[in-house]
Amino acid sequence: MLYPIIRPALFQLDPERAHELTISQLKLIRGTPFERLVHQRVPSRPVSCMGLQFDNPLGLAAGLDKNGECIDAFGMMGFGFVEVGTVTPRPQAGNDKPRLFRLVEAEGIINRMGFNNLGVDHLVENVKKARFKGIIGINIGKNKDTPVEQGKDDYLICMEKTYAHAGYITVNISSPNTPGLRTLQYGEALDDLLSAIKNKQQELQKRHLKYVPVAVKIAPDLSEEELIQVADSLVRHNIDGVIATNTTLDRSLVEGLKHAGESGGLSGRPVQLKSTEVIHRLNQELQGRLPIIGVGGIDSLMAAKEKLAAGASLIQIYSGFIYKGPGLIKDIVKNI
Ligand SMILES: Cc1cc2nc3c(=O)[nH]c(=O)nc-3n(C[C@H](O)[C@H](O)[C@H](O)COP(=O)(O)O)c2cc1C
Repeated sequence: MLYPIIRPALFQLDPERAHELTISQLKLIRGTPFERLVHQRVPSRPVSCMGLQFDNPLGLAAGLDKNGECIDAFGMMGFGFVEVGTVTPRPQAGNDKPRLFRLVEAEGIINRMGFNNLGVDHLVENVKKARFKGIIGINIGKNKDTPVEQGKDDYLICMEKTYAHAGYITVNISSPNTPGLRTLQYGEALDDLLSAIKNKQQELQKRHLKYVPVAVKIAPDLSEEELIQVADSLVRHNIDGVIATNTTLDRSLVEGLKHAGESGGLSGRPVQLKSTEVIHRLNQELQGRLPIIGVGGIDSLMAAKEKLAAGASLIQIYSGFIYKGPGLIKDIVKNI
């Protein structure tokens, strides 16, 4: 593919500008013969997970296509599934710019985007238009100006609006860029949220006569004890899957590098080991009672295999895709 030629030019640009440009180009070719330019033939590697059939275990992680604008293009590149969002009930601008930084030496990214998105209604319209035959996951969150104590309502609104159109729904309670969001990962707040979500899922199942699995996305920064509590809570509430992990606040592996001091979540190679450890520990705790979707620093076939060996049933990439391009998808899916 063209990515090795395009990447130096993209990396000359401000990271968010490069992202916007890529998304706008992919949008431009949507439904035109030029869409074939991004097509990659990958073999079928069927996986059954959360009651769904995935054509292959590699997905696009949330945050890259926040508004579901390029689902078909990502599908054509060979992803078995595409997770769009995080989306919130109402559109919001996100944090002030600059809010996205490349740590090139470490092949890492720091972001504090803050759920910039065009709102759940807009996303649903895009999902409805998509022709991608693979699974579409919809990742949901809360608006910044919704108090954390009422955060649950935002998730329920998003579930209500996305349920009929989602392959699965991800409840994102692990972004470090929405104040207070990560507190929903603990104790009573978590139990309360999961119980409301499970009730909503049952209600929607009856109404739509279909079961849409719900996964919860967690941070890599939980202590051992917290992780065990989260696992226990997910099992107790019959949640269908867990996505591990989101970005980290830990900067120990990037100390001294340019941009390392920026606030936000760190992703890419510096989070690779940490998220693999979380998957491994979760797997010990869960004993197969719910599947794990592994994400964090996958930048090669070997890193993908490590996530699967640690206990992931499916895997996702974001930063590795920015650094390596679509060739990484082909390499992983072909050889896994
Ligand atoms: C710029 C950027 C934006 C992101 N936005 C979201 C988001 O909106 N929702 C979410 O659940 N995860 C988001 N993530 C986290 C990724 O989905 C993924 O969990 C994390 O980056 C670790 O994977 P990676 O090392 O392959 O990037 C974002 C990551 C990046 C780099």
